[in-house]
Amino acid sequence: MDDNQEQKDLSRDEETLLDELGIVGAARRKFLGQSMAAALGTFAFHLLAKEKAFATLAAAPDAVFAQNAGVENAVMVLLKINGSTQRLEVDSRTALLDVLRERLGLTGTKKGCDQGQCGACTAIVDGRRVLSCLTLAASCEGKEVTTIEGLADGDNLHPMQVAFIKHDGFQCGYCTPGQICSAVALLQEAKNGDASHVTNNLRTSAQNLELSEEEIRERMSGNICRCGAYPGIVAAVREVHSGRDIAQTWHFATNEEIAVALNEGKANEIV
Ligand code: FES
Ligand code: FES
Repeated sequence: MDDNQEQKDLSRDEETLLDELGIVGAARRKFLGQSMAAALGTFAFHLLAKEKAFATLAAAPDAVFAQNAGVENAVMVLLKINGSTQRLEVDSRTALLDVLRERLGLTGTKKGCDQGQCGACTAIVDGRRVLSCLTLAASCEGKEVTTIEGLADGDNLHPMQVAFIKHDGFQCGYCTPGQICSAVALLQEAKNGDASHVTNNLRTSAQNLELSEEEIRERMSGNICRCGAYPGIVAAVREVHSGRDIAQTWHFATNEEIAVALNEGKANEIV
């Protein structure tokens, strides 16, 4: 213990007393070390004594013990998840997100904020996108739930998944399942003619809306991407929505390009 530390640990009165007793320097440090050891010993002794005393107490006749009673407030729910029917006993307060991840192991659906702010938990229920962190599993009784795991057809990815890869619509990938589920449901909303906040004319309820980039950005605005992969996400949604090929704006550097860049001292420009 250095002298500064000692200053912090002792009150002014304690310092004066030790000075008056002539306990200074190495003697003071030894004295403090012994005092601390004695205090710890006393504390441990009291702790053990208390534990022993509690161990000998008999439980009161009306004592209530917490029991491992399984699911509280249990309700049975029948869900069709990614094409397979599931009958589950869940706590009536359980969010769909927790049932997907914790009960069914469908961890593709992500928990970001758990309070309806980020969209990472987006799943599709009866064709409509929902925030599964704010959706009670019990409210999905008899409904069809689709998660990111249910979009591909075997080894064939959903066109939206293909487009996200083509347009580099992700970086860390954490928001991506939610983005893709949201985008897939968005296509149906456009077919239905559902209006958004930036739809120009709300009086004409046309079906098969052709969405501008602004519309796509607005309709995807509930899905936050902390990596900022928005340009790629919008390009992917535009391509699938329009059915038109949109040029890829990136490619893996070839060996020749890497060699040229290294020769010219531009290695940091290779992306
Ligand atoms: S986890 Fe549901 S909105 Fe963020
Ligand atoms: S890709 Fe990282 S959060 Fe969107």
